[in-house]
Amino acid sequence: MHIIKTSDTLKKHLIALRKEQPKVTIGFVPTMGALHQGHLSLIDASVSENDITVCSIFVNPTQFGDAADLEKYPKPIEQDIEKLVKNDCSILFLPSYDDVYPSDYKQMIFAIGELEHKIEGASRPGHFQGVCNVLHQLFSLISPTAAYFGQKDFQQTVVVKKLVEITDSSVKIRVVPIKREPHGLAMSSRNVRLSAKGRQNAAFIHRALSQTKEDLASMTVAKAVAKAKQFINAQKGAAIDYLLAVDAKTLEEISSLDEAENITLLTVVEYENVRLLDNIILK
Ligand code: PAF
Repeated sequence: MHIIKTSDTLKKHLIALRKEQPKVTIGFVPTMGALHQGHLSLIDASVSENDITVCSIFVNPTQFGDAADLEKYPKPIEQDIEKLVKNDCSILFLPSYDDVYPSDYKQMIFAIGELEHKIEGASRPGHFQGVCNVLHQLFSLISPTAAYFGQKDFQQTVVVKKLVEITDSSVKIRVVPIKREPHGLAMSSRNVRLSAKGRQNAAFIHRALSQTKEDLASMTVAKAVAKAKQFINAQKGAAIDYLLAVDAKTLEEISSLDEAENITLLTVVEYENVRLLDNIILK
């Protein structure tokens, strides 16, 4: 695996590669490091679908509202490198802040509409614009054939598809299903902040979503969602931030499964002071 630390070197490397192999397909997996099985499933998908895979590790300050959160972000780079080598990643791109955002860079405002403000956006002002800025920079540098994102951050996948649409980018967006821990908790870098017992117990979130999907065969959306909320709130130490069924394209809340072609049930549950995101595709 090549480890490349500047945009200039990466640009030159990719130009040479494309000259040698004009039809080369490049899969791109953008990350902020602290890699777990969820990230590695994105690497695996990219490796199986492309000639080469570029993974970036860059903790992007423009998507953090809270400086302390940014400061606390784990950076186990040696372990990350080992995992990427094991999973056949071809290039690791490890840029500095100045490399991604040169001194004359002006943060852009992307016209992603309401996607920016609703659901996760409501509690994280500016977050999705930060994600769009960094991805726009990285997509422009790499021009990947396809880029890989985890279904767990569902709203992010919708925002990224919108970004590609409004910037007329040719990169294909691939969404890879959620990886789960043995008990069912969706894998996330935040899971290490749970106690060992909490990490097992937190499987109740996935159980609630799966049960709701089953319930919807015989119940209205309002009834099934109310039942799931009651179940989650009955778990000691758990508090629902939101649980709602949305149109998978617009993220508008729906009240009947006939209202959209694709529908996803989204939730965030606060448990042991950790915000745990999860979702399930209803159709
Ligand atoms: O999902 C993430 O880790 C980040 O939002 C991403 C896509 C790497 C952009 O910084």
